Amino acid sequence: MTTLLSVDRVSKAFGGLQALDECSLSVEKGSITGLIGPNGSGKTTLFNVITGYEKPDSGSVSFEGAEITRAGPSKVFALGVGRTFQITRIFARLTVLENMLVATQRDEGWLRGLTRSKSSKSELVSAMEWLDFVGIGRLASQPAGSLSFGQRKLLELAYVLVADPDVILLDEPAGGVNLTLINEIADKIQSLNKSGKSFLIVEHNMEFVMNLCDRVTVMHQGTDLVSGTPSEIRNDPLVLDAYLGGGDVYETEESS
Ligand SMILES: Nc1ncnc2c1ncn2[C@@H]1O[C@H](COP(=O)(O)OP(=O)(O)OP(=O)(O)O)[C@@H](O)[C@H]1O
Ligand SMILES: [Mg+2]
Repeated sequence: MTTLLSVDRVSKAFGGLQALDECSLSVEKGSITGLIGPNGSGKTTLFNVITGYEKPDSGSVSFEGAEITRAGPSKVFALGVGRTFQITRIFARLTVLENMLVATQRDEGWLRGLTRSKSSKSELVSAMEWLDFVGIGRLASQPAGSLSFGQRKLLELAYVLVADPDVILLDEPAGGVNLTLINEIADKIQSLNKSGKSFLIVEHNMEFVMNLCDRVTVMHQGTDLVSGTPSEIRNDPLVLDAYLGGGDVYETEESS
């Protein structure tokens, strides 16, 4: 197994709050790695550090053996690390297809992407292919703001796929999504994984994580508590304690 993405003892404080405390993690090439932990344990902050949206106070991040610790978001993205956001970031007034075309033109900058009047035929074809792949091609001409929560997550996935990243970080892909769409999202992840994409997935839906992931890392209070296979994790007393001890009530998101 080769390590694709590696986080080594990363720390990050916001004022007096230690959001990440010497947190380490690795994603093997070809794997679907899960990242779980109670609310506020630092999962999204870790994603932000990996993808260049936050600079860590100490520690390092490397991708394919090269250090990317201080690289900005567009650099990290261009190197092949794609991500989605816990709160989806789509342009509600643009159509679904227009959102995709912004993605295809992203390397020209957001504003040019938004204002450029014509897209090439190959960009249109590629955008439609990915929309069809995630199952929302029929909604291409709808305003993105009219999509359900789950459909927005699928649009964000399609949007990331346009850039053909090697590893995709998904922040709560199943959160607030109905069961049918959750299963669809899981299928898409599995089929992309078969075609060679690696994943790092933050998710509170345990069934989703345990069924999909090869390995899981559990975070607690900003640090990695344990890593192992889903069945190792499921039976680890430290994990149960992290979720149930210390007054930390574990919240699952409501499905809509
Ligand atoms: N920009 C910020 N400024 C100040 N505090 C922050 C910031 N971002 C995160 N935090 C704090 O850092 C801690 C970790 O937050 P983070 O969002 O990484 O947790 P999480 O594991 O993703 O939680 P959840 O499961 O609820 O999404 C929390 O206490 C949070 O309030
Ligand atoms: Mg989060």
